[in-house]
Amino acid sequence: MKRISLTQHLIEQQRQHNSIPAELRLLIETVGRACKTISHAVSKGALGEVLGSAGSENVQGEVQKKLDILSNEILLEANEWGGHLAAMASEEMESIHPIPNRYPQGEYLLLFDPLDGSSNIDINVSIGTIFSVLKAPDGMTTPTEKDFMQPGRKQVAAGYAIYGPQSMLILTTGNGVHAFTLDRETGSWVLTQSNMQIPVETQEYAINASNARHWYPPVTRYINEMQAGATGPLKKNYNMRWIAAMVADVHRILTRGGIFMYPADSRDTSVPGKLRLMYEANPMALLVEQAGGLATDGKQAILDIQPTKLHQRVPVFLGSKVEVERITAYNQE
Ligand code: AHG
Ligand code: MN
Ligand code: MN
Ligand code: MN
Repeated sequence: MKRISLTQHLIEQQRQHNSIPAELRLLIETVGRACKTISHAVSKGALGEVLGSAGSENVQGEVQKKLDILSNEILLEANEWGGHLAAMASEEMESIHPIPNRYPQGEYLLLFDPLDGSSNIDINVSIGTIFSVLKAPDGMTTPTEKDFMQPGRKQVAAGYAIYGPQSMLILTTGNGVHAFTLDRETGSWVLTQSNMQIPVETQEYAINASNARHWYPPVTRYINEMQAGATGPLKKNYNMRWIAAMVADVHRILTRGGIFMYPADSRDTSVPGKLRLMYEANPMALLVEQAGGLATDGKQAILDIQPTKLHQRVPVFLGSKVEVERITAYNQE
């Protein structure tokens, strides 16, 4: 196998599509480096004293794990000094993090979910890091939260790292989705799959079914129809998977298809679902669309939503086109 590194891939993409200026490439490489550091910490587990709770809460009221905080710090430190960024935002920080004055300010904004799937940390199941890159608006001087309020379509890059049996980096800069596997011997991200494609049809769905009693009727109808199997209205037998880390569920869907759902439900109408638009739904939606799938909030494309808040939540239906179209149509009826 001819080995293509992340750097070589990014330079070749720039030559072919003119879509990755040097600054953006260096930024992506820095994120990739930070993810290697996180992967290393994750793999040490109890030996690195990285498991368990940190005893604090984030702005969304979730208990922070040690790795949530550590991963956030690793990403902040790695990206602060490079000169490519104007500001960062994270699930684990209430407000944005402008680049300190001692470093030059660049023209990009970076958003991340430093550690996705926190409830999997202590049970040695796949977790990940999700990131999204926006361009700072023209004429911006001191970055504010408002500068981040851009629809997902404006992302210039998005991706995730998954820390599983292998550590992988999945990336799009708007020209397909490409996968890299971490070679632990050489310490480099090596291209292992170009142009990932989500099959248009699927027989596999992912939803946290313990919330069934709270679902709205379109979701209940859809899940009932799938569970009815080959003699039901959808005329197919479906299988179900739920890993409780969006990164891992999306990775399965990018690899072999499927539909992932985290709907809004009737529990608290002021909170539409669980997942966060800016650093979970948007980057995943860009990857999924770039791989030929669909991602909606049940009504419209996630990438077209105009954000209003940094930690805004959004219902998510993503994956194989035919199934996402089906549940989106049920929602609209
Ligand atoms: P995070 O660990 O970053 O807070 O995200 C957890 C999210 C997402 O990764 C996953 O799909 C979902 O929460 C799992 O939710 P349940 O606890 O309802 O299974
Ligand atoms: Mn969390
Ligand atoms: Mn998450
Ligand atoms: Mn997280």
